[in-house]
Parts: sequence; structure tokens; C-alpha cells
Amino acid sequence: MDIKEHIRSIPDFPKPGINFYDISTLLRHPDAWQVTMGRLAKVVGGWRPDVLAGIESRGFLTAAPLALKLGCGFVMVRKRNKLPGATVRYDYDLEYGSDSIEIQADAVEPGQRVVVLDDLLATGGTANAAVQLFRKVGAEVVGVAAIVELNFLHGRDRLDVPVATLASYD
Ligand code: PRP
Ligand code: MG
Repeated sequence: MDIKEHIRSIPDFPKPGINFYDISTLLRHPDAWQVTMGRLAKVVGGWRPDVLAGIESRGFLTAAPLALKLGCGFVMVRKRNKLPGATVRYDYDLEYGSDSIEIQADAVEPGQRVVVLDDLLATGGTANAAVQLFRKVGAEVVGVAAIVELNFLHGRDRLDVPVATLASYD
């Protein structure tokens, strides 16, 4: 099955000139979604993770079902000020301005093997921030995985862990 047949691209969203790769159509198609999860499970499972981390918000869609399938814990990486209790933050630069992501301070144990999941890898800025955040709390990040990769933004070059994606676009 070609996953790309279930991913649509919407021109000029969210800004003129940007092509938005929309996985809504994949999520709506139970068979295609099942195949997608099966393929991710194969590669991510091979990294023997203890914990899967999903990056808010679309990363939750990949990480949570995959964690159930692989028998791993699931951890939410959220935008700032969304998580209760003690949190750890990582600030990172964007093209214009900056952003922050957080996890709960007790989300992972030092030395636990974490895989970071998202729907899409573009510049890699978001995924790299999540990798750095987990390192900050002493976890071992053993990979980053996503459904879609935008090759022309070279996101994987920013990451110093194994990277797996299922559908890449030039
Ligand atoms: C999108 C996408 C990835 C990120 C990729 O999220 O879901 O998380 O951008 O971009 P990067 O590789 O250049 O960092 P977005 O911030 O649009 O938020 P959402 O997941 O809440 O829709
Ligand atoms: Mg996102």
C-alpha cells in the first residue's frame, strides 16, 4: 500500500507558498492507518524503546496508538504552561522568534530509552528540541520517527539520532 495515496497536500496553508501535507485523510481510513501503524511499529520497535514521546499536537496521534501496540509508556511533550506539576522546559529558536516545549519532571527515569514521534518532519527544529529536552532529564533518545518527511528542509541533518519516516517528499 502506498501511504502517499492517503495523504493530501493542500496548497497555500497556513501561508501562501506553503504546501500543507494533511494526514487527516490517512486517519480517516482505518485500513491505511492500520498499515501506517504497522510500519512504524516495525522500525520503532527495533529500537527497543521504553517510552514513546508524542509532540503536541499531531505527534500524539502517532505516539499514543504506537505505544499501546508496542507495550511502551506514552509521554506527552507539550507546548508551554499546559502540563501540571513540576515541569522541565526546553527553549528553541524559530525562523522568527522562539518557542518552548515541556515535559513533566518525572515523565521518564534517567537511562530510559525514548523514541520521539511526530506526524511530520520539516526543518527538524521541533523534533530536535524534544530530543534535547529528554537528554536534559537523563533519558537516552534512541530515535525519531514520523509519517511524513519534507526532504527539501533537511530536518534529519539536524538530528543526531536514527530517523525513520514512511513518506518523503522532494
Ligand atoms: C508541525 C508538525 C511538526 C512540526 C514540524 O506542528 O506537526 O510537529 O510542525 O516542523 P519542524 O520540523 O520544522 O519543526 P505544528 O507546530 O504545526 O503544530 P501541531 O502539531 O499542533 O499542528
Ligand atoms: Mg506538530
